[in-house]
Amino acid sequence: MTIIDEAPNHLGYRQFGVGRFTFSRDEYFVTVEWPTGNHQMPVDQWLRCVQRDVAWGFFYGIVNFDSVIGTMNHYGTVDMFAGRFNEAYRRAEVDYNETFDHDELLGCFKAMLSDWTNEGYDPFAAPLETGSAFGPSSGNNDDAVTRRRVVAERMVSVPGDEPLRSDDSGFPVNRAFSDVDQGEPVIEASPGYEDEVCSFNLFAYLSRSDVTWNPSVVSACKESLYCPTTEEFTLPVIHGNDRVEWFVQLSDEIQWDVEDRDTGAKRARVVMKAGDVAAMPADIRHTGYSPKRAMLLVWENGSPRIPEMIAKGEAPVHPVDF
Ligand code: PHB
Ligand code: FE
Repeated sequence: MTIIDEAPNHLGYRQFGVGRFTFSRDEYFVTVEWPTGNHQMPVDQWLRCVQRDVAWGFFYGIVNFDSVIGTMNHYGTVDMFAGRFNEAYRRAEVDYNETFDHDELLGCFKAMLSDWTNEGYDPFAAPLETGSAFGPSSGNNDDAVTRRRVVAERMVSVPGDEPLRSDDSGFPVNRAFSDVDQGEPVIEASPGYEDEVCSFNLFAYLSRSDVTWNPSVVSACKESLYCPTTEEFTLPVIHGNDRVEWFVQLSDEIQWDVEDRDTGAKRARVVMKAGDVAAMPADIRHTGYSPKRAMLLVWENGSPRIPEMIAKGEAPVHPVDF
């Protein structure tokens, strides 16, 4: 990672560079430049995307920040691209791709997040629950942008794992979930099994989440990961899957736009209401809209072998044939 210009610009922001990409920001926009082109994005949208790419360690497959810019995870190295999954950019031959060591790109993004996030703006928060990302540089919000994602080794509430949140935990129940029952389940274990049975109220747990569109792993059974999350406003990124993933709508409603992963051609619009279950195929990209904060369970198979199995035809790109 290189800081192109140690001296901040007239607004107090530094300019960053990695490989042949450069990034600069002004009061409203981020400008990305690469050898064959340039691109702008509103800075609030940019920070929400970079925040998630950093927190997720580049996630599964592709994280598109919009229809032009994004990253593709190769689990060790990572590509940063411009126009690679955009038919028009490819046809005009102005698309660009560069491969980085995971830590190099992550380091650049972390430094950018710290420098470009102003005091009072939290890229993880719903827009109604945070301040403005715009304007000249003022302070920072490192406490928010370096938050650790909750990752369970087994199941939340099992001894040694992430403690349950209560009123004195600093995580109040979110305004949208004031009707969620906070009671915990009663366990009646047979004698001798008292130390082996655990439970927790997932709805109460999620009602206290202070972040949006940030799945946290609450249980892990071999490669099977339960990653529930609370969603409000839009999923900032357009996720290009490299495996099938399942969605279980736990409350309220989320609408999804589903497109072809490589060209962006529209494939489906999915409206999920509480109780609905959907499988997102492994060859799509999707983004979501949640007008009221909603609870969503994202179920992932975290096996590192899946992209290779799909490439070899050993695993399907959709889990069910109708
Ligand atoms: C997804 O891309 O599948 C995804 C990402 C973040 C969420 C929900 C779904 O909060
Ligand atoms: Fe996804």
